[in-house]
Amino acid sequence: MVQGYLTVALGKGRLAKKAMEAFEKIGIPCDEMKDKDTRKLIFVNEEKKIRFFLAKGPDVPTYVEYGAADIGIVGEDTILEEGRNIYEVLDLGFGKCRMCIAGPESSRKLLQGREVIRVATKYPRIAKDYFYNQKHQTVEIIKLNGSIELAPIVGLSEVICDIVETGTTLKENGLLVLEEVCPLSARVVVNQVSMRMENERITEIIRGLKSTTIDM
Ligand code: PRP
Repeated sequence: MVQGYLTVALGKGRLAKKAMEAFEKIGIPCDEMKDKDTRKLIFVNEEKKIRFFLAKGPDVPTYVEYGAADIGIVGEDTILEEGRNIYEVLDLGFGKCRMCIAGPESSRKLLQGREVIRVATKYPRIAKDYFYNQKHQTVEIIKLNGSIELAPIVGLSEVICDIVETGTTLKENGLLVLEEVCPLSARVVVNQVSMRMENERITEIIRGLKSTTIDM
């Protein structure tokens, strides 16, 4: 039987770079992808019959759910936010950060009370789950697409729900972590049908990635 290609979707940016390091370590390099000037979106390792493509992080679970990618590498934040029907099979241990509620010190007391406060975030589903199901506080969630730290500074919201990695962005903007929602890291996700049809090849990749350590 002719072996088909396995397709791996990578979330663009920092995670993709680290993910490629991990694949290289398990003997699946893809040198083409290292060319910074390339505008190509698909990269192939012909020997191993594996194709990689780069997608926007939030789109990775979508490609995997529909089977356009068999495997995806994406942050736990995106998996939680997208809520797709996919298998989450491995914590890669890199890309560690935290989902936090942050704001100015003056907003701390608003998180104790029952007032309806405004929460700006790129992650409305995670924020909603945290405030409604865990804290039982009614809030107004305002969806933004980036530079979330601006919101409490210019008066759009009282707090934000966002990723904190080093804490530098908060610090440089006079904000601080007020509550922690959950820890996050990069994960491997797999299409549910691929997991059955290509079990052997996928399991081998997962096993390899599990034994590989990549600097945080
Ligand atoms: C993320 C996040 C914070 C920042 C946290 O933004 O939304 O703004 O990184 O990192 P730090 O704790 O190390 O400062 P990203 O750089 O992805 O860009 P964005 O603002 O467009 O979402």
